[in-house]
Amino acid sequence: MCGIVGYIGDKNAVKAVIHGLHKLEYRGYDSVGIGVIEKNKVKIYKDKGRVKTLDNIVPKNLNTSLAIGHTRWATHGKPSKLNAHPQSDCKNEIAIVHNGIIENFGELKQILKKEGHNFKSETDSEVLAHLIEKFYGETKDLAKAVKITLDKINGTYGIVVISSKEPDKMIVARSSSPIIIGVGKGENFVASDATAVIKYTKKIIYIDDGEMAIVTKDNIDIFNKDNIRIDKKIESLNWSAKEVEKNGYPTFMLKEIYEQPKSFTNTLAGHIDLENGTSHLGGMQNLFPDNEIHNIKRIVIIGCGTSWHAGLMGEYYFENMTGLPTEVEYASEFRYRNPAIDSETFVIGISQSGETADTLAALREAKGKGAKVFGIVNVVGSTISREVDEGLYIHVGPEIGVASTKAFLSQVLALFLVSLYIGRKKRLSIEDGIKFGKQLQKIPSIIDEVLQSTQAQIKKIADKYCKYTNFLYLGRGFNFPVALEGALKLKEISYVHAEGYPAGEMKHGPIALIDKDFPTFFIAPNDNFFQKSISNIQEIKARNGKLILLTDDNAKVDEGLVDDIIRIPTIDEEFYPFIETIPVQLFAYYIAIKKNRDVDKPRNLAKSVTVE
Ligand code: G6P
Repeated sequence: MCGIVGYIGDKNAVKAVIHGLHKLEYRGYDSVGIGVIEKNKVKIYKDKGRVKTLDNIVPKNLNTSLAIGHTRWATHGKPSKLNAHPQSDCKNEIAIVHNGIIENFGELKQILKKEGHNFKSETDSEVLAHLIEKFYGETKDLAKAVKITLDKINGTYGIVVISSKEPDKMIVARSSSPIIIGVGKGENFVASDATAVIKYTKKIIYIDDGEMAIVTKDNIDIFNKDNIRIDKKIESLNWSAKEVEKNGYPTFMLKEIYEQPKSFTNTLAGHIDLENGTSHLGGMQNLFPDNEIHNIKRIVIIGCGTSWHAGLMGEYYFENMTGLPTEVEYASEFRYRNPAIDSETFVIGISQSGETADTLAALREAKGKGAKVFGIVNVVGSTISREVDEGLYIHVGPEIGVASTKAFLSQVLALFLVSLYIGRKKRLSIEDGIKFGKQLQKIPSIIDEVLQSTQAQIKKIADKYCKYTNFLYLGRGFNFPVALEGALKLKEISYVHAEGYPAGEMKHGPIALIDKDFPTFFIAPNDNFFQKSISNIQEIKARNGKLILLTDDNAKVDEGLVDDIIRIPTIDEEFYPFIETIPVQLFAYYIAIKKNRDVDKPRNLAKSVTVE
């Protein structure tokens, strides 16, 4: 959460930083600010609100060679001008932007106050500015003052520090909050992630935990936690600047929904081995050479939010194809238990951003207990992708809409591929493997067909249902995680209460809620459970519940029984989640649009949750 940016160089620094903040707004958007050094003075322009607020508060002719910026997702202190970043010291000579949480800020603040420091905000971050001020007084060296400060604090941080006393540099450091450096010619950039700088450079240095960097216009010096200068690889990013634009769509979310035929194809590319009826996964081969895969006794899948839902789908795939006991864990719960993990447990972490703090910590915990840890990640070079033993990138390109769409579908696909790989080494026949591989290759065109055939109808259905304030989403088997994901999408972007439930559980509670004002979105293609689902539908109708049914072309449904019916092509049941997800996403999208919500930046949420 929170996005931070810095620029030093020959261009207009303010423009470059504001551009970066727009790209990072998905990380938090309740307040915003930039800090510059102009005529040897630190100047800060900030306020509550989104990045566009800067248009009104930053002087039009402000043009400096050094600037830092911040877009905030409040943790300590409500969104306000004073709590916005940059935060500064007493003399207004030092400005900092911070992403993370300083856990011992309370005691540090008391000590600093006693020493005469004057605090202006309620934030934890402000202590950093005052500590740096204090140690700068002793060392007269900004980098040293930052280093001593960081040694005094507990917590997480990505920070950029500037000072009017040393106006030719930015000091950058990280511990558990992401920081990249964009390498340019006669200019350098700092940001929470590469989307902020991709317009200017594709050369990226990923800063690791405990590292600190001194960034000038022509030079980047990086130090490890023992303060020893180190050389780091400059990586080349393969995303294009176009991928972080809306390209004619009204929102990023709609663009990303429509990208799914392509993003699915990208995830699949190079991974199907039709000859052997398996998936080709270099990471799995490296992790389990020879017959070591037979040492796996159990699979644990870890994630948060939508990634956790993808994990649930994985549980069905793994148990069906491999026969291995599989559990899906919320990262935030797993990490604080004493989970029973050992070297025979295969742990899969799922994260679009590769930066979610709880997922990262849970995977570290699993690794510490001897498990082999595999990552399914989108953002190349992200922390999780670098810390896992091996992994699989889903390669869906930047996902900007806060509510995850294309990443979800490809996470499920990635789990299917891993499951196929293990399954073929366990109990899945080559014939079944070949059949699965061939079917996967057909899915992108079916997704496209579903997008074309259902969009207009779903928009109409959304118009009809947008007045309701509660929804129940039901599904059985493979359709249950889709129900959960549908309910989450609706909650996230329209602020309508929705619950996802396994349809068979309805009678153990949710049925009490059903009446004419509580509609159900039922996901029930003509699979093994269809007749059971029809019985549940009867139960809902007997209680005057409104019902939208998502089913397939071949399903025989007494249409008098449902209020609205959305049909998708009939396919094998393992693959329904890939196409059912589309109408579910579109339904949430159009309800939110009808309610005038900001679907790309829903209130209170952030795309990358780097606090615990
Ligand atoms: C946040 C986002 C969700 C996402 C979750 C996990 O809550 O708003 O869309 O599913 O984090 O993020 P990750 O990057 O780890 O998949």
